[in-house]
Order: sequence, then C-alpha cells, then structure tokens
Amino acid sequence: MSKIHVIGAAGFAGAQLAALVNEHPYFELGQITSRSEAGKHLVDVTPEYRVGRRLSELDMAAITPDDFAAVCYPHAEAAAVVGPLVDKGVRVVDVSADHRLRDPAAYPAHYGFEHPRPDLLEIAVYGLPELYRDKIVEAQLVANPGCYPETALLGLLPICREISDVVIDAKSGVSGAGRTPTSAVHFSNITDSISPYKVFAHRHQPEIAQELGQDLLFTPHLLPVDRGLMCSSYARVDREAIPDQATLDARYADFYEEHPFVEPVLAPPTMRAVQHTNFAQVCPLLSPDGERVAVFSVLDNLMKGAAGQAVQNFNLMAGRPETEGLL
Ligand SMILES: NC(=O)c1ccc[n+]([C@@H]2O[C@H](COP(=O)([O-])OP(=O)(O)OC[C@H]3O[C@@H](n4cnc5c(N)ncnc54)[C@H](OP(=O)(O)O)[C@@H]3O)[C@@H](O)[C@H]2O)c1
Repeated sequence: MSKIHVIGAAGFAGAQLAALVNEHPYFELGQITSRSEAGKHLVDVTPEYRVGRRLSELDMAAITPDDFAAVCYPHAEAAAVVGPLVDKGVRVVDVSADHRLRDPAAYPAHYGFEHPRPDLLEIAVYGLPELYRDKIVEAQLVANPGCYPETALLGLLPICREISDVVIDAKSGVSGAGRTPTSAVHFSNITDSISPYKVFAHRHQPEIAQELGQDLLFTPHLLPVDRGLMCSSYARVDREAIPDQATLDARYADFYEEHPFVEPVLAPPTMRAVQHTNFAQVCPLLSPDGERVAVFSVLDNLMKGAAGQAVQNFNLMAGRPETEGLL
C-alpha cells in the first residue's frame, strides 16, 4: 500500500481526489491539506464526499520519498510546492497547469509568471495516458492535463495528422472555475444563460496546440451546470486518408481499443453520460461532402478532467491496474 498526499484538498479538484483515494483499494490517503479550512473535517467542507478525515496545514517534513503527492493548487502556486516534493524524490501529479507546457517562455506569455523551475518542464510527462501511458508509468512528475485540453484532445487525437483549420467550440460546467465565488460564476449571472469568454486568449489554447501539433481556434463557454465539459470540434479533413464514415469510425475504434476510459460512440454524446464518472465519450462525424469532420467529446471536468485522471495516472505510476478505484 502506498500513500497519496492531496495538497489543496478543500478545492473542487482536491476534494474529489481525496474522496477517490479514500475509497481506493490500494492507495492510502495521506495528508489532506488546506490553509483556510485546516482543522475541519473534509466532509464538513464538501458533504457530498463523506470523507471523515481532518484537513491540516501542509507538513512537508512528514512526506517521505516513498509517498505520492497530488498538488491541486491554482497555477503559479503549485510550482512552489511541486519543486521541493520532486527534489525529495516524491512522485508527483501536478493537477495545475504549472508543468504542462514544455516551453518555459510560455509561462510569462500565457500565465503571467516566470517559471521558477524550468528544469522540471524537461522531466514532466503530460498526463494523458491515451498518448503517453508508457512514459507516465516511469515518470517522477506528471502534469495532469487541463480539462478543456483533455476533452478537445481526446476528440481529435485519432485524426490529428489528417486535419487542418481546427475550430474548437467548448462548454464547461461552473465547477471548472474552482470554489472561489466571483461575479462571473454567481448563480444569478450564469443561470438560464450561456456566454463565451477569453475569445482568442484562453490559456488552454497553447496546451491544446502543443499536444495536437498544430494551431487552432478555441472558444470556451460557461454553462449553467455544475460538472461536465463538451467540445464540438470542426476541421477540414484529408479526404484520401479518411474517405468515408466507416474509415473514420474504425480509426477511433482502433485508437481507443486499449484505453478503457474513452468510449467512441456513433451518435453525439451528452454530458449526462459521463458526469460523476472517469469516462469520456467521443463521436466523430464526416460531413456529407466528405470535406470536414465534426467531433463531439464529453467528460466530467472533476473526474476524467482532473481528479479521476490523477488517480488513473497514480495507478500507472504505482504499477496498479489502470482502472483501479475508478469503475
Ligand atoms: N476545477 C476543475 O474542473 C479543474 C480541472 C482540471 C484542472 N484544474 C486545476 O486544478 C487546480 C485546482 O483547481 P480547483 O478547481 O480545485 O481550484 P479551487 O477550488 O480554487 O481550489 C484550490 C485549492 O488550493 C488552495 N490554495 C493554495 N494556495 C492558494 C492560493 N495562493 N490561492 C488560492 N488558493 C490556494 C485553496 O485554498 P486553501 O488552502 O485555503 O484550501 C484551495 O483549497 C487548478 O490549478 C486548476 O486549474 C481544475
């Protein structure tokens, strides 16, 4: 049995992760940390997870190199904790954006801070098992994907070399914004409504481009739902490589055959199908003239888009079955 410390466990992603680890048949829940909620039981902060353990301030000295740790802090804050953990020999999944981009110059450009440990960007493995499973198994530092990038990438990766002019229309539930209340996520401002935000300027655009291997247009929208994320992605397609729908379907079935959490489906999926699960669904459709594809992909932003994905990565890092504790 190995211990997983959840650092930032009072946040939306961290609390979901603590709940998954608490129920996991192999891992033991280590420290669950919070500054503002230290001393409270997690169940009193997030009653839906029924985790009776008490939140505490981070005790770095009590974490040993045999342990695993998940860092669920906001970007820029996570890097300050990840570095010392990695230096100790702890194997870390960073749920924040702080180790996802390989180019250190991308951090001041897109996140507004100089990366304190560019050396770690060289060893960090992008935590998408559908692309990097073998590297995750060996990794000391895994950079869990962003929830929008993960949804978009799972939709497009099987055909990423045969598409161009990619446009991603993305919609997220409000829990994607974290637990801090703001006017943008106030119930009265989001309910019965939908709005695009950060058009041409969202931080997840360079992350998607990095892994897709091409530039793209990405527009996120906020939906008046709690959890769930959908990408409707459109692109021109190489007609010779993908001449018909049957070829497209076969491409997705082959790509995901060995990946238990991604389900290619034949009709556009709904958020409902994946909420509160670690599954993603993807549906590629070829236009009648064969010139374009529309791909619909859905997942739960707190599960496959964050905490569930982190557990899937810890399973791989610890040599456990990939689906353990997630079905
Ligand atoms: N929400 C999602 O769907 C989602 C999906 C994928 C990735 N992520 C990423 O996962 C990380 C956590 O997201 P979240 O939605 O769980 O955020 P959140 O609800 O805002 O929680 C963040 C946690 O980090 C702690 N924290 C430590 N230093 C902090 C600081 N300087 N400022 C603010 N909070 C600080 C918070 O406060 P206390 O210490 O006081 O408890 C809180 O417990 C972020 O990097 C986010 O981008 C989130």
